[in-house]
Amino acid sequence: MKIIKMQDTYISKIKQINKNGKYAVLTMGCQLNENDSEKISGMLEESGYTKTDDLAKANVIVFNTCCVRENAEDRLFGKLGEVKKYKENNGTIIVIGGCMMQEKHIVNKLKQSYPFVDIVFGPHTMQDFPKDLYNSIVENKKIEDILDIEGNIIEGMPIVRDDSIKASVAIMNGCNNFCTYCIVPYVRGRERSRNPQDIYNEVLDLAKNGYKEITLLGQNVNSYLVSERKQNENLNLTVKKENGEEVEVNSFAKLLRLINTIDGIERIRFISPHPKDFTDDVIDSIRDCDKVCNLIHLPLQSGSTNVLKAMNRKYTKEQYLNLVEKIKAKIPNIQFSTDIIVGFPGETEEDFEDTLDVIKKVGYEQIFMFIYSRRVGTVADKMENQIDEKVKHERFNRLKSLAEKIIEEGNKKYVGTVQKVLVEGKSKTNDKIYTGRTETNKVVNFEGKDDLVGKVIPLKIASEHMWYLKGEYEN
Ligand code: 5AD
Ligand code: SF4
Repeated sequence: MKIIKMQDTYISKIKQINKNGKYAVLTMGCQLNENDSEKISGMLEESGYTKTDDLAKANVIVFNTCCVRENAEDRLFGKLGEVKKYKENNGTIIVIGGCMMQEKHIVNKLKQSYPFVDIVFGPHTMQDFPKDLYNSIVENKKIEDILDIEGNIIEGMPIVRDDSIKASVAIMNGCNNFCTYCIVPYVRGRERSRNPQDIYNEVLDLAKNGYKEITLLGQNVNSYLVSERKQNENLNLTVKKENGEEVEVNSFAKLLRLINTIDGIERIRFISPHPKDFTDDVIDSIRDCDKVCNLIHLPLQSGSTNVLKAMNRKYTKEQYLNLVEKIKAKIPNIQFSTDIIVGFPGETEEDFEDTLDVIKKVGYEQIFMFIYSRRVGTVADKMENQIDEKVKHERFNRLKSLAEKIIEEGNKKYVGTVQKVLVEGKSKTNDKIYTGRTETNKVVNFEGKDDLVGKVIPLKIASEHMWYLKGEYEN
């Protein structure tokens, strides 16, 4: 709590000198990155800044970066070129935070080619942002605040959320898996789980503020508390609930059961689990907890046992398929979504066909597809059998066509059924049309009215379209 005290001190100092300042935060990564952006917004609003979408009007612009794939770098450097004129014309403070700042070659490039950037900070020093900002304002000097080792989990940070119905809650940070393509373990450090009492309190607070859907976030959610338990067998992890009841929460499965008891929360999602850690107790919790959605995001990455081995994923094609079968047998109506990487070093045509085969067998609701991107410092980057760009793109296009066919096919099962839909708001393009999502995360558009927003309502599905379903609401 010491850090939060220090943060409060600098927040009050900024408030004293800040005159109607405006800020913009540009989020460039995953949902954890979005959750961090909400905390950056929280610190800025506590310091007296208000949000603007107009970069020309902002006094502080923060880029919250990602480094999972190369195109994120191109986007950052492109955008920096664009904001340079604001720096020159208005003296805007330019800040870059997030995972990419843990990469030394990127920070060096920034220093060399983008010297107008005022502050850079990494994911382990985000909580010190008010101090860095204050020092930058009063001393007008460049600040680099990056820690090589991971910091502790910081509780009690201010947060301004983007949405009023759905919220994300980080339950752990870091990753111990070292998949050979992935940079995350190098930039986010080892796994650290939050105390279950802190998570419970945060979700309880969200429920009291009217939030209906919670997404539990972590690089590997089903390793929740695994490292902590290894380090200390006698770890006391009891959570005191609002009604005074005390429950032990020492695993992800038990955390799901705890969150399921919070009144007001109607839906629970989680991303991402690792197939190798998908234990039976987690499957049982999903089956037993009525609020846990019947969609599991289960990253496959590749359907080839050889490629999976080179990726260090620690499961085979058969083990993945058996896991899916086991889950389907235990949980009626369960659906899956996944992540796929094409063009990993050494991937043969046969390996790629194994990926297509798994996709056909599982029949996913949603597939996130990525072309393999070399990341400096990872094991796969040093592999000599890199795949030709043309082959990568050709496979990506074949994967995309199959994925669209599978999704279209899967959409048909909804027509004529009644789905529970959480109504999120009005459509951006048509005033009469409202939009929401099924438990399986399918978008449903329908003619509705304002007082349905934030409610879970039954909708009859009239037709399916590639990216949405059309629903009918009966009063
Ligand atoms: N290249 C392409 N995709 C990647 N991902 C992670 N690292 C890479 C990389 N080097 C994908 C994985 C992961 C998702 C978040 O991003 O599919 O599940
Ligand atoms: Fe990007 Fe990974 Fe960091 Fe998320 S955790 S912001 S995906 S690098």
